[in-house]
Amino acid sequence: MSGRILTVAQQKGGSGKTTLAAHIAVALARQSGEPVAILDVDPQGSLGTWFEAREDKLGEDNTGLEFRTASGWGARREARSLAKSHGYVVIDTPPKTDSDAKPAIDAADFVLVPIQPTPVDLWATSQTIDLAAREDTPAFLVLNRVPPRASLTSEMSEAIASAGYESLAARLGNRTVFASAMGRGLSVEEEAPSSKAALEISALIKELVARIG
Ligand SMILES: Nc1ncnc2c1ncn2[C@@H]1O[C@H](COP(=O)(O)OP(=O)(O)O)[C@@H](O)[C@H]1O
Ligand SMILES: [Mg+2]
Repeated sequence: MSGRILTVAQQKGGSGKTTLAAHIAVALARQSGEPVAILDVDPQGSLGTWFEAREDKLGEDNTGLEFRTASGWGARREARSLAKSHGYVVIDTPPKTDSDAKPAIDAADFVLVPIQPTPVDLWATSQTIDLAAREDTPAFLVLNRVPPRASLTSEMSEAIASAGYESLAARLGNRTVFASAMGRGLSVEEEAPSSKAALEISALIKELVARIG
């Protein structure tokens, strides 16, 4: 098996990397039926805390995921090793792209870049996109915490397109269930299957799988 390595990266902290990584991993495990591993490269370890809550909630053998940590260039090695026995490897990265996330971007088949639709967040994104481009790795922006009022978001979509960045059509709204589900070690699809957030995640995964195969 040579699984696909998906790295979630964005220089800006608080953009939704950890939230997106957890949701993608849970959804891919459920949909593909293949083993899925998550690799936390962020020394803050938020994804690990989520995973521990998940073990408490579902039982150690019922998380549906394998969890590992790595740092520095060990991340690339660990990701490639996990890809031999998993259909997907999802990597969560720390905010400082250049030094800390580079090995994870280097190892990736695809990079996902969560971004809140504000100009400042877009500025912070170019470094991550450039790093992926240098590795010839396709990178997709994922608009996150999109407010219900659309004016700034549509301006941002234009700015993203004119910067030459690709973004997924699927977007995630600003919904508190993302935070509460994460706090309980779950995804929104597990916590509240008929919520808008769950529908958004399901659409995002469908689009992602169509793009990456
Ligand atoms: N779509 C969303 N709606 C509401 N809250 C969100 C959403 N995405 C992320 N958050 C919250 O924003 C904060 C930062 O998200 P996180 O995934 O930890 O970002 P990062 O890993 O990039 O620092 C967390 O409190 C998280 O619960
Ligand atoms: Mg994080």
